[in-house]
Amino acid sequence: MTNTPINVDIVNEEIKKSELKDLGKATIREIVGLVNKIQEASKEKYIRMEMGSPSLAPPEVGVNGEIEALKRGVASDYPMVDGVKELKIEASRFIKNFVGIDLKPEGCVPTVGSMQGGYATFLLCGNIDPKKDTALFIDPGFPVQKQQFNVLNQKFESFDVYNYRGEALRDKLESFLSKGNINSIIYSNPNNPTWICFTEKELKIIGELATKYDVIVIEDLAYFAMDFRRDLFHPGKPPYQVSVANYTDNYVLLISASKAFSYAGQRIAVVAISDKLYNRPYPNLIKRFGSEKFGYTFVMRIIYALSSGVCHSTQYGMAAMLKAANDGKFNFIEEVKEYGKRAKIMKKMFVDAGFKIVYDKDIDVDIADGFYFTISYPGYSGGELVKELLYYGISAIALDDTGSLRTEGLRACVSQITEDQMPVLAKRLEAFKKDHSN
Ligand SMILES: Cc1ncc(COP(=O)(O)O)c(C=O)c1O
Repeated sequence: MTNTPINVDIVNEEIKKSELKDLGKATIREIVGLVNKIQEASKEKYIRMEMGSPSLAPPEVGVNGEIEALKRGVASDYPMVDGVKELKIEASRFIKNFVGIDLKPEGCVPTVGSMQGGYATFLLCGNIDPKKDTALFIDPGFPVQKQQFNVLNQKFESFDVYNYRGEALRDKLESFLSKGNINSIIYSNPNNPTWICFTEKELKIIGELATKYDVIVIEDLAYFAMDFRRDLFHPGKPPYQVSVANYTDNYVLLISASKAFSYAGQRIAVVAISDKLYNRPYPNLIKRFGSEKFGYTFVMRIIYALSSGVCHSTQYGMAAMLKAANDGKFNFIEEVKEYGKRAKIMKKMFVDAGFKIVYDKDIDVDIADGFYFTISYPGYSGGELVKELLYYGISAIALDDTGSLRTEGLRACVSQITEDQMPVLAKRLEAFKKDHSN
């Protein structure tokens, strides 16, 4: 292993300096920092699969919407905490057009990314009922949301859904919900990190149980309409983005602009609270927040306290993108299909080099090609594989921190791997294969 694409001594030296004891437990940003250092020291560019930063250009319609708003002078005014009217109206239309659900503009509230939207929702759900002090994650999940729970000092439980797909999900969920301590169920769909996509049947189970046990479903649609197996760009017509909103009134949708609209840098999302939930009183909220209604408390107590709303011009940028999509003039899904193409090529390369796809099925069909996929290599734990791949100029995060029980796995993100890097990846995987075949 002396002739690896990246000098072994440099990699070892930088790992030692980083003081990261177990690369399997390192956060995304810690791996980013480590790889930046190795790149600097080795003068070699890595295949960066650790962070889901979009590499596509932001849509012109959004950028122009922001520029026009800035020229109108919005920068000097505080935006309304619940969002500018144009954005609320277009978000409500968007949900009707692409999810097939009626939701009033009132319940569409912009937040500083889904990160803030999730944080505010978790805080709110943790205070609706003193008996319900715990959230439930359907894992694997996005590690930073667990970090948010730690910051909030709120409790969560979780389970790895790998063995509980389809009808088996019902009993598993019920084993948690029947204890009476769960306030909310959280998952992303398509899923970060595995790209599993829940079926209508599974969402129906989640929705029915949410109603039965009166818990709130926080459906994280960070990868809105990015299950590319079906074309979901037909404004106002099915097929729609699948959603638990079809099966319960107890839902909050997190719709991020970061990935579906390549707008991560502007930090905006829309939190969509169902009409029923928005106006529902929870007397227990009065104690901590001084207000009773779910939606009002979300906006006027929590978002107000956290950031007093979202950057004014960015709201107009998002409103412009949603309007153009609603009017059928901007096929945002076509733009991001690029990720599916990359995943297909990259998955084949890894499999040909002896890797296995860890979460490989959606019940009985192959997992879709999208923003992420998961890989393992025989005989390696996740942490060991993160390290081993660093010698070959490839970086990724382990599944350890995602709530996955598949501790041998890694999450590979395709977003930063452009076409010109594919031959480099192929060459590095070839070297890996050569060094690892007996
Ligand atoms: C599942 C999930 N939720 C939330 C986020 C954060 O989204 P935002 O950039 O809107 O804060 C991400 C980003 O990677 C994600 O994967």
